[in-house]
Amino acid sequence: MKPNQKLGTSKKTQVENMFNAISIEYDFINKLITFGNDIKWRKKVYEIAKESMPKRVLDIATGTGDIALELANIEGAKIIGLDISEKMLDLGRQKILKQNLSDKIDLISGDAESLAYSNNYFDVITIGFGVRNFQNLIKGLDESRRVLKENGKLIILESSIPKNPIIRFFYFIISKVYIPFLGLLFSKDKSAYNYLQKSAEKFPSGNKFVEILKKCGFKNIKTTEQMLGATSIYIAQK
Ligand SMILES: C[S@@+](CC[C@H](N)C(=O)[O-])C[C@H]1O[C@@H](n2cnc3c(N)ncnc32)[C@H](O)[C@@H]1O
Repeated sequence: MKPNQKLGTSKKTQVENMFNAISIEYDFINKLITFGNDIKWRKKVYEIAKESMPKRVLDIATGTGDIALELANIEGAKIIGLDISEKMLDLGRQKILKQNLSDKIDLISGDAESLAYSNNYFDVITIGFGVRNFQNLIKGLDESRRVLKENGKLIILESSIPKNPIIRFFYFIISKVYIPFLGLLFSKDKSAYNYLQKSAEKFPSGNKFVEILKKCGFKNIKTTEQMLGATSIYIAQK
């Protein structure tokens, strides 16, 4: 789904404009939406990535760079963070400068669906809350697979819908009332948080997403649910 169904512009343009518009408040509202759990999830992504002892890591849809910053703790690894939103990247670059990590992390402007890297280039690819924003999910996953080395790992952190009906009930209250309310209170773009909530609901999470990963040629797929199933980490191998 697009952030604004009424506009004739592409989903990619709308997503880019939306994240440019909410970049300043993104980190703050993200903490409120995830009840601070985002820090824990990024650490998990780092732990999983570290197991492969990677030298080249690509963090797609890096946004303000928090996953890339976490990945910089992997000894000997060079991290590239890529995003279509220049304003999100600018904030990430400021964090990298402050933490003196310019030699470990490069943040670059780029599109997940058309990566400017040769085949079999990266040891690990991470994508945090990015895949549901892709214009063409399959194209994005195919591109990730292309630039991953043989047996390389793709680690995806994404919103999902809890399977337990009681938890799902509370999940919907939070996502339909609390998240849009935060948007109203703190965001310059009120509709952005409706889109973020609705796109999470529409995203083919859990087994459906595992099937999509399989169709794209990934193997050894594992899923771990976080926050009672409201978020999932998918690990897939090329
Ligand atoms: C919800 S933010 C996630 C940021 C960060 N990964 C995190 O965990 O906080 C989603 C990001 O995906 C980026 N994005 C969406 N479609 C993209 C694409 N096709 N290529 C690269 N980045 C994309 C957006 O610009 C945005 O910064």
